[in-house]
Amino acid sequence: MIRETIVTTVSGDGVPHIAPMGATPIEGGWLLQPFRPSTTLDNFLKTRCGVVNFTDDARVFAGCVTKRKTDWPTVKADLVDSVRLETALAHHEVRVERVEEDGQRPKLHCAIVHRANNKAFPGLNRAVAAVLEGAVLVSRLHMLSREKIDQEFGYLQIAIDKTAGPHETEAWSWLTDAVLAHREQGAS
Ligand SMILES: Cc1cc2nc3c(=O)[nH]c(=O)nc-3n(C[C@H](O)[C@H](O)[C@H](O)COP(=O)(O)O)c2cc1C
Repeated sequence: MIRETIVTTVSGDGVPHIAPMGATPIEGGWLLQPFRPSTTLDNFLKTRCGVVNFTDDARVFAGCVTKRKTDWPTVKADLVDSVRLETALAHHEVRVERVEEDGQRPKLHCAIVHRANNKAFPGLNRAVAAVLEGAVLVSRLHMLSREKIDQEFGYLQIAIDKTAGPHETEAWSWLTDAVLAHREQGAS
């Protein structure tokens, strides 16, 4: 199983970094697999800690993937020397226990050292899920055909039209703009 989360880390100089990241539940913690090269990986290897944030704000996923907005507000974590997403519904503060080296995608075995519930989960929403799927597609634009993107975005648009609120509508517009920009650059 994979949960789609927002991982927050800090650099050696304390500069916060925010990245959408799949997290696999493991005994006592989370398995994170950041690709090389990535700021998230560098920060984890340097500081050995970070935060796995659970949010229903689709804009954070779409904003980071499209680079339209990456500086989402963070606040100091409760226990580890890092930051968490200010709007996280819940968060787990983690320490890296073990690193399984891999040239492309090392496995970070992280132990949860603190858990917090910050806000009530407001319930499932199809448009949030559609934005999440759209964000994954945008992160793979260079690998996917125009037909595949049109087909998938066309289907996801139904959930957006029927169930989106203002946040999901804005997040979706960032994703569709990214598809157009990619095409204007002359790619498929
Ligand atoms: C839903 C979702 C899940 C993602 N999961 C991962 C992941 O598990 N590992 C990874 O390296 N990137 C993942 N990405 C892409 C990263 O968020 C993106 O590449 C990010 O820029 C990480 O690099 P950075 O730490 O240098 O910012 C995911 C993106 C999305 C939208």
